[in-house]
Amino acid sequence: VKVYDNQQLASKKIAQRIAALIKKNDESGKKTVLGLATGASPIKVYAELIRMHKEEALSFKNVVTFNLDEYFPMKPDAEQSYVTFMNRQLFDHIDIVRENVHIPDGTLEEKSVAEYCLNYEKKITFYGGLDFQLLGIGRTGHIGFNEPGSAPNSGTRLVTLDDLTRRDASRDFGGKENVPTKAITMGVGTIFKAREIILMAWGKKKASIIKKAVEGEISSDVPATYLQLSPNVEFVLDKEAASDL
Ligand code: GLP
Repeated sequence: VKVYDNQQLASKKIAQRIAALIKKNDESGKKTVLGLATGASPIKVYAELIRMHKEEALSFKNVVTFNLDEYFPMKPDAEQSYVTFMNRQLFDHIDIVRENVHIPDGTLEEKSVAEYCLNYEKKITFYGGLDFQLLGIGRTGHIGFNEPGSAPNSGTRLVTLDDLTRRDASRDFGGKENVPTKAITMGVGTIFKAREIILMAWGKKKASIIKKAVEGEISSDVPATYLQLSPNVEFVLDKEAASDL
């Protein structure tokens, strides 16, 4: 667990870690495979990466990304889609090759989702696995959209969103009734295969779930507790999110 004075500083540190990884792989002619997150939590990390691209010539030409999740159903050009989010918060401002960007497809027919999810996993494997996975945490203890009940070895799949998750998303959708009931998410098992994982959390409203995630009994009731089992995980927090530890 690393605690910083504020979100700004912590986000900067995370961005520096990602940049160092990209530069190291660039030097040895390797691609960097990043697992990326959405939500409010990573916005300052992405802003810092954009700044480094513009001011310090950090290049994303050899970066391949896989996003954790997407609502289902969801059109990519919808205001609330994670495609729109990623474009606005990161991809539109850097030199990433669009073919290297992967975000689960919310437009599929439900019957083809299972095969699509297997392929998503295969693509990650094809690129050599995730070098780094960035995670936020939902108030249910979800990582990605792995809600309570998710198995530790779960793969990419279609899931049903928890009521609290839909309530938390209701502002973006103009009411809970408009929030999709499902999502496609990388599994806990998919996330676990990443060689480095950072879970970030900011603010007082994350303090109680962070206490459970870091100190609580490992259980499917709080999927983030599974992270206690991995030696590759760091929890990066601001003072408020760490205040119940
Ligand atoms: C959504 C995302 C999660 C994210 C969570 C927390 O549910 N699917 O990946 O961690 O929200 O969001 P925020 O960072 O806005 O608190």
